[in-house]
Amino acid sequence: MDFSSVQGKAAIVTGASRGIGEAIARVYGGHGMKVVCAARSQDKGQAVADEICAKGGDAIFIRTDCSSPEAIKALVDAAVAHYGRLDGVVSNAGIGMGGTPLHEYDLDEYDKIFDLNSKGVFAGMKYGAETIFRTHSQGGFLINVASIAGLMPQRGQALYTATKFGVVGMTRAAALDYAKYGITVNAICPGYTKTSIFGDAPEAAMDFFASDCPAGRMGDPRECAYLALFLASDMARYITGAAIPVDGALSAGHQNISSWKHPELVTGEKLSAESTIAAIMDSQAGAAIVEKYLPGFAANEQVKQAYGMTFKALAPMLGLPEQVLESMLSELNSL
Ligand SMILES: NC(=O)c1ccc[n+]([C@@H]2O[C@H](COP(=O)([O-])OP(=O)(O)OC[C@H]3O[C@@H](n4cnc5c(N)ncnc54)[C@H](O)[C@@H]3O)[C@@H](O)[C@H]2O)c1
Repeated sequence: MDFSSVQGKAAIVTGASRGIGEAIARVYGGHGMKVVCAARSQDKGQAVADEICAKGGDAIFIRTDCSSPEAIKALVDAAVAHYGRLDGVVSNAGIGMGGTPLHEYDLDEYDKIFDLNSKGVFAGMKYGAETIFRTHSQGGFLINVASIAGLMPQRGQALYTATKFGVVGMTRAAALDYAKYGITVNAICPGYTKTSIFGDAPEAAMDFFASDCPAGRMGDPRECAYLALFLASDMARYITGAAIPVDGALSAGHQNISSWKHPELVTGEKLSAESTIAAIMDSQAGAAIVEKYLPGFAANEQVKQAYGMTFKALAPMLGLPEQVLESMLSELNSL
């Protein structure tokens, strides 16, 4: 991959003091981009910008409350005043809110989350797009950090889900507006990602998030950051209007029960009585042992549905006498 096309591009990253925004700011800075870090926390935000500069990058921090459209307009103006150009805005700042049924939310909670997660993103796109046009960027981009909650509603998160569906919708509509004019507009949709958005959630909750994910772990903020880098590069000029999950397959579909017929493919275990029926029947020696104890087994089409099971689990359904089963299993163990 050649990321040289991002060098010298100026981009704003909101919510850059922590988590995903911080990771994006650092990856941008590390690849020669001019980074305008925005967040509310002066100390943490300034520290991120200082560390990018200390590593040879170019970054400034501008304290910004991203739930205020006026503050975002001032942020965009300040970025151009400093760098003389603007190529991209990453609207990442956002808050989570959830865990109760819809009727238990208060109206002021609605305003709080929509002001940041929705109006703040709109302002970033609006003032960002105007300024990217005005400063004649070649290769401009708008990236919004939405969520898998913008693709797949989450129980207990009616308001958060509504804001993130809105962000995905705005992203796709704006992509249609700007496709002809060379500004790409995309959304990154993180799944469970290890950041401070989970506050001091107990260990058990974090374990749940990891195990709920098909990948079996939570994401690292840098995994979103590298996608943001790719989307800022000229390699991604034809990608626009996309809402891309970074979620270890969490939003890919419903997790049903499935059993591998050939788990030894990944475990590397040798054949034994504990192997699946499929693995045993695929081996000549194994199939011969089975044929000896269960004549005609290989030709039984119905039983093929159970090839993901072990003989021990299948035996009661076959009505196999215990002694016969034990002899067959011990022979299989010597494979
Ligand atoms: N972490 C996850 O699992 C996850 C999953 C899906 C989506 N997201 C989204 O990713 C984005 C970043 O979340 P994170 O996990 O890094 O969270 P985080 O809490 O670690 O960081 C949030 C950042 O936003 C900033 N911020 C909050 N309110 C702000 C305001 N009013 N003005 C300016 N900055 C403000 C914070 O200072 C911080 O820098 C959010 O939009 C969030 O909804 C996160």
